[in-house]
Amino acid sequence: MNNILVTGGCGFIGSNFVRVCLERCPEVRLVNLDKLTYAGNLANLADIEGDRRYRFVRGDIGDAALVGDLFREERIDTVVHFAAESHVDRSIDGPAEFIRTNIVGTFTLLEAARHAWLTNSSLSAQHSARFLHVSTDEVYGSLGETGLFTETTPYDPRSPYSASKAASDHLVSAYHHTYGLPTLITNCSNNYGPYHFPEKLIPLVINNALNGRELPVYGDGRNVRDWLFVEDHCRAILAVLRQGRVGETYNVGGNNEKQNIEIVEAICDLLDAKAGPLPSGEPRRSLIRFVKDRPGHDRRYAIDAGKIKAELGWEPAVTFAEGIVRTVDWYLQHREWVEQVTSGAYRDYYERQYGGR
Ligand code: NAD
Ligand code: DAU
Repeated sequence: MNNILVTGGCGFIGSNFVRVCLERCPEVRLVNLDKLTYAGNLANLADIEGDRRYRFVRGDIGDAALVGDLFREERIDTVVHFAAESHVDRSIDGPAEFIRTNIVGTFTLLEAARHAWLTNSSLSAQHSARFLHVSTDEVYGSLGETGLFTETTPYDPRSPYSASKAASDHLVSAYHHTYGLPTLITNCSNNYGPYHFPEKLIPLVINNALNGRELPVYGDGRNVRDWLFVEDHCRAILAVLRQGRVGETYNVGGNNEKQNIEIVEAICDLLDAKAGPLPSGEPRRSLIRFVKDRPGHDRRYAIDAGKIKAELGWEPAVTFAEGIVRTVDWYLQHREWVEQVTSGAYRDYYERQYGGR
């Protein structure tokens, strides 16, 4: 691993990964290809802009000429592919961009890697190259009260987002089986932490609760997610890159199942303690509103992360109690960041999504 192409490095997980990777791997050079959609933000990496091992390129993963040039110019031997449309609610509102980026974009990257590593390259480059595709537990569908997703759970995606991620996973597997491309896939549960865009549950609730706005909880609030602190996910990706077996899938999870309502209440209580109650004197739990459910809302996700622990020795290091405090503190200390990303287009989105709910 010398010359890494990170896609989507200006998003939530990508920007955390770029920082962790440059800190922990002094030998690497890293190129970040990001289109800077509404979810991508250069400010997420302002602190490493001057690092000589880092280059930012604004562009679309679906631009075959650009991607091909980058593989050649930068002698890319490792791809860590985060770039995607990532929000389920937006995929219900308008799926087309999910098909373009998540499926066609991934296909374009796979083709570029195939040509660079298998057609025009020496044998040694083929052996050391890696294409790591970052995917989600949502491809496995929805669980009942019991059971866990393993790497062999059949795919059963149920939203346009998860279907597009499932399609991209299948393409990645197909390139391994058919062409021998050295691929790896990680399927991870819900991340949380710094730089999380406030359209997703945790940062949206922190932002609204700080500003005394209603806290929309879909349905009965009893849907379950398995929350993982983002830095733990980044460490898992590094472990898979370094020691993962080519062609394999690794599930990554937090061993931390919570109902949505538990998450919302925990954030309210933390903010009351850190920022004082609302100006009215009421606790922030008074802002909770149960609203119309998400169509096709998956009931429960939970990961069995036994394989990555047994093979690579990875397990989560940050407990939820610690991670949620670190996250809330980060948002309290980065009010300008939140204001910047929630201005303009975010307001239109919010009105569309929650206005009539
Ligand atoms: P995000 O929405 O915060 O960031 C996505 C990034 O990709 C942005 O910087 C955006 O500008 C960029 N991008 C989008 N379309 C692009 C294109 N066509 N070309 C180049 N760049 C483009 O997403 P995230 O939450 O950081 O998720 C990153 C990846 O991890 C995604 O593939 C997602 O499916 C997966 N994942 C996310 C979670 C989670 O909880 N957030 C969990 C498991 C897996
Ligand atoms: O499981 C991994 C997935 O986690 C990733 O692949 C996705 O990219 C990521 O967005 C996330 O998907 P979810 O749909 O689980 O995350 P979200 O934060 O949108 O919602 C979490 C839960 O909270 C879900 O049950 C829906 C609910 N919710 C969400 C929002 C935004 C609410 O109740 N109210 C809300 O306003």
